[in-house]
Parts: sequence; structure tokens; C-alpha cells
Amino acid sequence: MRVVSGIKPTGNLHLGNYLGAVKQWVAMQDDVQAQGGETLYFIADLHGLTEFIAPSELAANTIEMTATLIAAGIDPARSTLFNQTRVPAHSELTWLLNNVARVGWLNRMTQFKDKAGKNREGASVGLYDYPVLMAADVLLYNATHVPVGEDQKQHLELARDIATKFNTDYGVDLFTLPEPLVSAAAPRIMSLRDASMKMSKSNPSEMSLVKLIDSDDVIADKFRKAKTDPDALPGTPEGLEGRTEARNLVTIFAALADRTPADVLAEYEGKGFGQFKPALADLAVSVLGPIRDRLVRLLDDRAEVGAILERGAAKARDFAAPILVGAQRAMGLQV
Ligand code: TYM
Repeated sequence: MRVVSGIKPTGNLHLGNYLGAVKQWVAMQDDVQAQGGETLYFIADLHGLTEFIAPSELAANTIEMTATLIAAGIDPARSTLFNQTRVPAHSELTWLLNNVARVGWLNRMTQFKDKAGKNREGASVGLYDYPVLMAADVLLYNATHVPVGEDQKQHLELARDIATKFNTDYGVDLFTLPEPLVSAAAPRIMSLRDASMKMSKSNPSEMSLVKLIDSDDVIADKFRKAKTDPDALPGTPEGLEGRTEARNLVTIFAALADRTPADVLAEYEGKGFGQFKPALADLAVSVLGPIRDRLVRLLDDRAEVGAILERGAAKARDFAAPILVGAQRAMGLQV
């Protein structure tokens, strides 16, 4: 097994990233390594460029996201932790794959449609090509499994299509088809203010997302003020049908507690949000508080975090080199 996944350095890690993806990354670190496999995790700083970000902010975010991953449990001694830019093979393979991916395939990508909105002509070429860079990110390491949130599944299906077409067109058996792994516990965490939108850094309200850097008081306050309905909780998950806000909070509770929603509802059946929200706030503080405390300590030595990225990149470059050369040779490029 070779597990590969990435995260954009857009400000702080939020609860959606954590429960949807990073918590799985940490769990896989132990499971995969027990089986002799590898885990590689990276900061997608090149993807960070697809929407304008001030250079100083991007640089700071890259260090902060790295520190957050370490605080959340990614161990750089066991997982290869790096940023894309330090492994130029990501960009090089993207160009090769650009000639395999079809415009029609990219036109179907819902993330591009959402992010470009009505102003498609004004979107950057990078935003459009985002999924091809993502395909390069995983194909470069022969990733077998890619733990992601639900919203990234379509991009990984595209990576499989690109790999298949490359292998067929060039008559090689070079690229492994990566399998997306979506957390059953938290496929999608929604905004705390409007559960029709996913929790995201681009949500308009600060109150809609819990950040891993938030203080205990802020975390508790955001859950206490989360939007809900006036009804009591049902005894089973089916009873949450049509109650999107309530379902989101139960999903978050269950994922934080490593329990199933059914189990949580069995305990809270008939209780109102006046009881459920304080319990959720306490649980969130008990899980996220220690991560934040480690993060704050790590941020005292940003140079060391940068050095960790460089050491990880040296390892990643070694993993990537033979596959990039394999792709170049398959296409007839002289290397
Ligand atoms: P990013 O930074 O937007 O998200 C990082 C991970 O968090 C998941 N996620 C969520 N899961 C559940 N609920 C949410 N509200 C939520 N918001 C975010 C995302 O699905 C993702 O797994 N394009 C990737 C970064 C990337 C990547 C890759 C991933 C670049 N190259 C190669 C895997 C393999 C992204 O969305 O990052």
C-alpha cells in the first residue's frame, strides 16, 4: 500500500479538513506502516496559487499548515511530509499529463464550475488545470490509496481516467490506478451557519467554521451558536431526514467521539439542542484543545518546521524520480 494525500495551505486547518481527511491520514500512518507500506502527505502549495494569495500569506500558511498536520498526529519520522514546490517532478509530470487529459473531462469538474462561477473567462488557467496537477500528485508515487473528503472524489476519478489513457496510449503499465478513500464517519462536514454549504475557508461567516487554532472559548461559542431547529433529537439517523443542521451536528459529534451516529442518537434521543450543544462543545474542546496547544508550541520554531519540509522533500524526490523518467521515456522524450 502506498498512501498519498495533500492539503492546500489556505489559512488554518478547519474541522471539515480534519474530520474528512486528516484524521484518516493519522490513522493510516499506523495501519499502513504495520503492513510495510508508505504514507506520503504534502502541502499543496502549487494548488494554493490557483486563487490569488499574497506571497507572504502563502509562505506563512505553508509553515502553519505543516505545523498543524504535525500537531494533529502526522509524524515526519514515519510519514514523508513535504510541500509540492520542493519536488519539481509534480510540475513536470503535470505538463506530460496535460497532453493526455481531455478538455471535455475537465469541463465536467464540479469544483471548477463552483469556484469559477459565472466568470469562467476570468478564472485562471491554473484553476482549470487544478485536477491534472492533482492527478500528477498521486500518479507520481504510484499511490494505491488516497484518503480525501467526498468533494475530492471526482478529481480522483479523473486521475484514474488519465492513468488508464496514458497506459493505453503509450502501451505501458506505468501508472497505478489510485483508489479514493472517503471517511465513512465524516464524508462531508457542513457549515455551522448554513448546512447546505460545506464547511470551508471561503464560507462568509467566521462562525461557520471551527479552526484548529481556535481557543477553547471560541470553539465552545461556535458550537453553542450553531444553527439548529427547535425539535428534540430522534432515536435513529433516519429521523434526521430533512434536518440538515441537526444531522451535521450529530455527524460531527460521532466523528469526534469515534462513535456511530446511531450510537450517539441512542444516548440523546428526546433531548433538545439545549443539552446536545454544550455536550458537543465540551467534546470538541477535549479533542481539539490538545492539538491546538501542540500547534502553538510548534509555531515557536518555524525554521524547524521548514527544515522538516525540506527533509521530507528529499525523500519524496527519490520516490518520484523513477516514475517521472518512466513517463518521459514512454512518451519518447530524451532524458
Ligand atoms: P483542501 O485543502 O481543500 O482539503 C483538504 C482535505 O479536506 C477535505 N475537506 C473536507 N472533508 C469533509 N468536509 C469538509 N467540509 C471538507 N473540506 C475539505 C478535502 O476533501 C480534502 O481531502 N484538492 C485537495 C488537495 C490536494 C490533494 C492532492 C488531495 C492536492 N493534490 C492529491 C489528494 C491527492 C483539496 O481539496 O484540498
